[in-house]
Order: sequence, then C-alpha cells, then structure tokens
Amino acid sequence: MVHIIIRLVIGCLGWLAALALAAEPHFNAANELVKPDNYREWMYIGTGLTPHDKNDGEASFPEFHNVYMSRPAWEAWRASGEFADGTVLVKELLSVGETEAISGKGYFQGEFSTVAVMVKDKQRFANKPGNWGFFIYGGDSAAGAAAPAFDDAGCAQCHVDHAQKDLVFTQYYPILRQGVERAASAH
Ligand code: HEC
Repeated sequence: MVHIIIRLVIGCLGWLAALALAAEPHFNAANELVKPDNYREWMYIGTGLTPHDKNDGEASFPEFHNVYMSRPAWEAWRASGEFADGTVLVKELLSVGETEAISGKGYFQGEFSTVAVMVKDKQRFANKPGNWGFFIYGGDSAAGAAAPAFDDAGCAQCHVDHAQKDLVFTQYYPILRQGVERAASAH
C-alpha cells in the first residue's frame, strides 16, 4: 500500500515537472520574457567557442556557448526538421577557465556569464523575422528576471544573414542535423 502511494506521489511530481517544462516560455504583462528556468535539463544541442587567442585578442564573444532546446521543440524538430511555434533556444555563455589539464593544453569552462534566448512565437512576434524574439540576461540575474525583446538590428539581423535554417545556426549543431536525418530515414 505504502509503495503504491509513494509511486502515485512520484508519478504526480513527474507530471507536474512535465507541465512546468511545457509551460515555457513565460511572458509577463509587459510582454517581457521571464528568464527560462531549468534549461540545463532541456535537450543539449552543442557548444561553440570563439576564444580571444584565435581572434587577435578581440573576440566579440570569447566565451563557451552552450546551447539548449526546450523538449517539446526538440521532439517537433526530430519529427519535422522545422522549429515549431513555441520553440525556445537558450545559449548560456561561460568564460574560458583553465587552459591546461592532465589531458593536455586546451580550453576548459570557467564561470557562467550571460544567457541569450530565442523564442519562436507566431502571434507575439508576428512582425519579427522568422517570428523569433531575442532576449538577453546577465548570468547572475535572479530567477524570475524579465527582459524585453531586442530590436532586429541588435540580434536578429546577423542570424537572418548567416544562419542556415530559420535564423538558427544549425550548421554548428550535429545533434540537430542527426535528429532530422533519423526522422527522414524512418519514413
Ligand atoms: C554578429 C552576429 C550575431 C549577433 C549580432 C547575434 N548573434 Fe546570436 N549567434 C550568432 C552565431 C554565429 C551563433 C552560433 C555560433 C555561436 O554561438 O558562436 C549564435 C547563436 C545564438 C543562439 C543559439 C541558437 C543558434 O541560432 O545557434 C542564441 C539563442 C542567440 N545566438 C541569441 C542571440 C541574441 C539574444 C542576440 C542579441 C543580444 C544575438 N544572438 C546576436 C551570431 C550572432
């Protein structure tokens, strides 16, 4: 009996967690995006790195860029190869830390610094390129911090000009490419 109750409680918790994930993204009344929560438990897409020492000491974004995708969006991508309405992509920037380890010289992740987010919403961003909204937060901003969408010149335009698929730099994420190939071969 006790076992059954425990299993029921655990089942409910799992269901609530799934609901919470499905409920991302959250916008406040001022149409600002609340910094996503739990994104480190979403689908991990990949990491880019453009360090200073490969850019004459002047890289625009010298940090590691760890990218995560909301789970429902990943499922939709695998099935269709499209970014579904409601897709959230989080790019978490981390400073370069140590450059030498027992495994050799290289780049190792240091401290969390910044969180950049893209949200696809056909209604809310009806007039934005690809219906994507772009947002940025300090890495140390409190849970619940909210930010307004950036103007197109600040973020979207570079993505429009250089990203491979629907403003997303899929060319740098083998996990996304494989997801689509697997879906195609299943048909
Ligand atoms: C000068 C070009 C440029 C600008 C401006 C730019 N980005 Fe990006 N962004 C990139 C590139 C290139 C990548 C992928 C590789 C990387 O992370 O370096 C990327 C990746 C991302 C990703 C992960 C998804 C993807 O498409 O790869 C997010 C989220 C993101 N950027 C948000 C933003 C936000 C928010 C702003 C504005 C504050 C912004 N970007 C401005 C070039 C740009």
